[in-house]
Amino acid sequence: MAEHIHPIFDRILSRADKETFLKQRACVIWLTGLSGSGKSTIAEAVEQALHAQGIFTKLLDGDNIRSGINSNLGFSVEDRRENIRRIAEVAKLFMEGGAVTLCSFVSPTKEIRALAKEIVGEEDFLEVFVHAPLEVCEARDVKGLYKKAREGIIKDFTGISSPFEAPETPFITLRTDEHSLEACKNELIAAILPRIRKEE
Ligand code: ADX
Repeated sequence: MAEHIHPIFDRILSRADKETFLKQRACVIWLTGLSGSGKSTIAEAVEQALHAQGIFTKLLDGDNIRSGINSNLGFSVEDRRENIRRIAEVAKLFMEGGAVTLCSFVSPTKEIRALAKEIVGEEDFLEVFVHAPLEVCEARDVKGLYKKAREGIIKDFTGISSPFEAPETPFITLRTDEHSLEACKNELIAAILPRIRKEE
């Protein structure tokens, strides 16, 4: 198949053109963590704050992507892998368009995150571990899913009946059980701003 595809990358404006236009450097900020750990809340707050500073962003979020482009995928090991593969490819497209791209997905295994990193490119992939112990996420049970998982109504639920492997060397870890949303947001922004700002 590949021999019948003729990419035209040389005629498309480059990422560098977009970054110069936007006066920023693009990257993918990849938030991983248990359901209910606070990934989406932090991603939303960080996006708002960056936007207010004139930074062009795009936020890709689990529940949205799963109702659209990935609506045919469930939560088996293979489907999660395909979910993350497609998301990483989409995130890369946004990044190449110059956007600071925030991705908020459970992405539960090291293998899955390694795949995302490989697709995006190591240099541009900032792994953010949004961490709260399982007991805390379960007690929060924002969407009522942990209860259903314990009752066996939801199968293969991350943390209950499907594994979550903590990242070993994340770019940053945010402890949402120990720090406020505001503090986690500020910590992440402070860490990424130097990577985003482009000298005039
Ligand atoms: S991932 O594992 O493939 O990265 P993703 O982030 O897209 O997961 O979706 C996770 C969201 O789907 C959770 O926040 C939760 O709302 C919902 N969900 C439904 N079923 C499951 C399940 N079995 N395991 C984890 N999350 C689930």
